Amino acid sequence: MKTEEREHLIKILRETIYNLTGNYYPDERMKILEYKIERLLRSVHLDSAPPKRIINYFLLSPDGKKMLIDLMTVPETRFFREYEQLTALMGGPCKNKNNLTVLSIGCSTGEEPYSVAMIMKRTGKTGKVVGTDINENVLEKARKGLYRASSLRDVPEEYREFFIEKDGQIEVVDEIRRMVSFRPLNLINRQDFLSLSITADCVLCRNVLIYFDSKSKRVALENIREILVKDGLLVLSSTEILQREFYDIFEPIKEGKFFFYKPKG
Ligand SMILES: C[S@@+](CC[C@H](N)C(=O)[O-])C[C@H]1O[C@@H](n2cnc3c(N)ncnc32)[C@H](O)[C@@H]1O
Repeated sequence: MKTEEREHLIKILRETIYNLTGNYYPDERMKILEYKIERLLRSVHLDSAPPKRIINYFLLSPDGKKMLIDLMTVPETRFFREYEQLTALMGGPCKNKNNLTVLSIGCSTGEEPYSVAMIMKRTGKTGKVVGTDINENVLEKARKGLYRASSLRDVPEEYREFFIEKDGQIEVVDEIRRMVSFRPLNLINRQDFLSLSITADCVLCRNVLIYFDSKSKRVALENIREILVKDGLLVLSSTEILQREFYDIFEPIKEGKFFFYKPKG
């Protein structure tokens, strides 16, 4: 394939990923995308196929679309990530609420929703946690609730009772698993939110919107606002800042050293 053809192909696939998922590869991350696409093309034996055939495969076949979603997914997560922020949430704005519905969007392999359920259990809160992700492969792992034994290193001592050892791995115990369910959801697809048929007290969407551009972020935030109860809260990672241009959808409230976001309008 000629260099211009290759560059054109990569640009079309970048656009396809954006339209499918809202995740945007800016020019400075194009090299990473190029590398991932080349590896993917080799794995499906399309590396010497004409560009048109490659584009049709990714644009038209369900398998091709799933592969692109898998390719852009950054699945990095861990148990009790930003534990202090989660305890500030449960002990602060959610303190006097019970029978909570928490939605974890972009939950990857499930560590986040399970951690929230464990914190709820220990703080005597009832309710449920719904873990969602655009990537079916990570959800499949999440549903199994089985993790490498080394994942325990991120788990505070007082929460280790919620794991049992199984064949050299660790498994989340049934009483926590019963509180958590997993559903596919694409942040930029309003219908996916409606299909959940829930209203949420809290939506965790941590380390997901950092890969969105302004336009897709707005769509995602509007979808999140719609699923929240009136006094509900959006939780981003504490290293993410919601830009002022979105203050017409969510406004920040401060709880100790953390910011949470409440819906406007
Ligand atoms: C870096 S992980 C974050 C995991 C977890 N929230 C945390 O902070 O540890 C980002 C996840 O967002 C998911 N994701 C990306 N785009 C998405 C979209 N449009 N809708 C739903 N999930 C998406 C990815 O599949 C990936 O599993």
